[in-house]
Amino acid sequence: MSDTATPDNTLTQAAQEAHGAHTTPSARPSKRDIDSTLSARLAALPTPKLRDEYGQQSSFLYIEDFLPRDFTERLIAAVHDVTPAVNRNYLPGHKAGGSVSRHTLDKLAPFIADLYRSEALIKWLEALTGDRLQLSPEDDPHAYALYFYTRPGDHIGWHYDTSYYEGRRYTLLLGVIDDSSCALEYELHTKTPGVPDEPGSVRYPPGAFVFFDGDKLRHRVTPLGENEMRVSLTFEYVTNPNMRPFQRFISNMKDSIAYFGFRQVFRRNRGKNGQA
Ligand SMILES: [Fe+2]
Repeated sequence: MSDTATPDNTLTQAAQEAHGAHTTPSARPSKRDIDSTLSARLAALPTPKLRDEYGQQSSFLYIEDFLPRDFTERLIAAVHDVTPAVNRNYLPGHKAGGSVSRHTLDKLAPFIADLYRSEALIKWLEALTGDRLQLSPEDDPHAYALYFYTRPGDHIGWHYDTSYYEGRRYTLLLGVIDDSSCALEYELHTKTPGVPDEPGSVRYPPGAFVFFDGDKLRHRVTPLGENEMRVSLTFEYVTNPNMRPFQRFISNMKDSIAYFGFRQVFRRNRGKNGQA
């Protein structure tokens, strides 16, 4: 595992190739433009039907064609912009891959931060879940992050996106680049009494949407093959942003070791103490 971001030349080239296949997006849209574009897209979705599907699948939903194409193009461009800042991690037997935290995205890919905060998106997710959703706190590096699968064998083993918050934690995954054989495999209903577990699998392409309650969906990503690349974007929303100190410690250690490195996770705390 690594605590520092090191440029990965192979990755940089792959990201450039992926990016090069698309036209460069025009100037960054305003938050208002993002909201109006998403509002139009979301209004076209059959929300009542999707809400039923979400409930029947114990708080899980997949939509293959979700993001407006221009937004997907911007996310692919963001991958190119943040590639030198990818933090590689390796947990023997459980996880290998790269991550870019919200703190880095704030600096290098602010479109992602704006998309995460879109009121139209949050309102629609609230209609889907029936919950009042809130943004993750400023010091949570996982609030929005990019996951990079770039070396053969990159994967993550079976897990839940456990909430260390006092309320629920929802995960939204958006496909960005998928030139891979990786699958997101999952088991529905594992926490629903009286309902048998139901296995499933999706290979979500650029622009696709995966959404679930982190404590309810057991899931994994299967290993990357040779000469493959995959990048996905994660957004985290919560119903109560409070976290007790011990849970905060566990969450920070997990994020440091498995995802972003100690510098990213503890940067806020260092800053508060004047040591950043
Ligand atoms: Fe996960």
